[in-house]
Amino acid sequence: MASSLFHKVSLLLVVLWCLFSCAPECTNAHPLKICKFDQIYQLGDSISDTGNLIREVPIGAATPFARLPYGETFFKNATGRCSNGLLMIDYIAMAAGLPLLPPYKKLDGTADDVEHGVNFAVAGSTALPSRVLAARNIYSPVTNTSLNVQLDWMFTHLRSNICIHHKDCVEKLQNALFMVGEIGGNDYNYAIFQGKTMEELRSMVPDVVATIIYAARRVIEIGGKRVVIPGNFPIGCLPIYKTAFQTNISAAYDKKQCLKNLNEFAKYHNEELQKAIHKLQQDKPNAVVVYGDYYKAYQFLLKVATSQGFEREKACCGTGGKYNFNMTRMCGSGANVGVCSNPKRYMSWDGVHLTQQGYKIMAAWLLKNIFPQLHCHF
Ligand SMILES: *[C@@H]1O[C@H](CO)[C@@H](O)[C@H](O)[C@H]1NC(C)=O
Ligand SMILES: *[C@@H]1O[C@H](CO)[C@@H](O)[C@H](O)[C@H]1NC(C)=O
Ligand SMILES: *[C@@H]1O[C@H](CO)[C@@H](O)[C@H](O)[C@H]1NC(C)=O
Ligand SMILES: *[C@@H]1O[C@H](CO)[C@@H](O)[C@H](O)[C@H]1NC(C)=O
Repeated sequence: MASSLFHKVSLLLVVLWCLFSCAPECTNAHPLKICKFDQIYQLGDSISDTGNLIREVPIGAATPFARLPYGETFFKNATGRCSNGLLMIDYIAMAAGLPLLPPYKKLDGTADDVEHGVNFAVAGSTALPSRVLAARNIYSPVTNTSLNVQLDWMFTHLRSNICIHHKDCVEKLQNALFMVGEIGGNDYNYAIFQGKTMEELRSMVPDVVATIIYAARRVIEIGGKRVVIPGNFPIGCLPIYKTAFQTNISAAYDKKQCLKNLNEFAKYHNEELQKAIHKLQQDKPNAVVVYGDYYKAYQFLLKVATSQGFEREKACCGTGGKYNFNMTRMCGSGANVGVCSNPKRYMSWDGVHLTQQGYKIMAAWLLKNIFPQLHCHF
């Protein structure tokens, strides 16, 4: 009697435990699998590049992202990802039950499997074309593969590998997920580090937002049904900005030790982007357009990092100063730049990009946040 009751209680506990704590792990079924995505396409910058920039001529192979310590943790080799390991898009692909996305640039020469999607993101890329930025006296130092070029790549790829006629595309892409961004962050990064004022930055927002929305519209018009458009990070929390704008004025920082004015600017971009997404959704009721809230995902990461005692201020890979960051001696730039021994305990990998652990935690929040909005329960 007592033993049977004990069994019932323990069985109940196991069931409850699986329901509430370990369901995805126990069954290996992430809720995102309900969407039955069969392809993922990614446009963007270093937050999601899985190997395009390092294959670009002339600069790519010479960037630090083509060498260790980039990639040291997961791949034990540099893949072109701007981190020690996996990125958010990798976690998203895994959650969808799909293989990691091959970079577009790798496709010529190797027989990569493009059945489940392609990654067009290029580290250093901007939303606005380089010549448009140049007209504002902003120079794009790493790549000219801005969002419009990535869109061209995508259309070329889709038209030659997936579908030819509109009807064909609509059918073939109905279970595809499109990630349009994060993109636009570099337009502002370059402007700020090239001496533009906050006013000048704010004046760029309408053009940057319109360019991102135009790309999403093109994606929907070729047949995309589910589109996620991520916003910008709270850039005032990143070591690169905290180093460049370090100040003794304590009122310049918020409670999380992030620079207020830069975070306010990121919020402004994100608000304008969300308004434009809302309008796009009204124009295109047959598609689902979701805002990817990287800002809040980052704040969630900050909370987790605090409770788990991560290093929140310093970059793992870098050297010098309060934040282990020096613009002229960045991660991968030479022998005297160190790497922390425990990147799992750091949020920032190189002062600009996050560690794999940081991206993993952000991706978990993001997936939970966007999944219900994707309306996958057909
Ligand atoms: C590391 O990557 C390079 C190309 O990026 C490749 O040539 C090399 O074989 C890889 N090394 C290992 C150990 O996988
Ligand atoms: C981008 O294009 C401009 C103008 O054609 C060129 O001068 C510059 O070198 C290019 N930048 C890169 C990184 O390829
Ligand atoms: C902050 O204050 C310290 C001591 O008062 C001074 O040495 C330092 O230069 C100041 N730093 C900045 C960035 O103003
Ligand atoms: C960054 O490194 C350069 C070159 O080693 C050095 O001259 C400079 O003082 C460093 N800057 C800071 C803020 O530590």
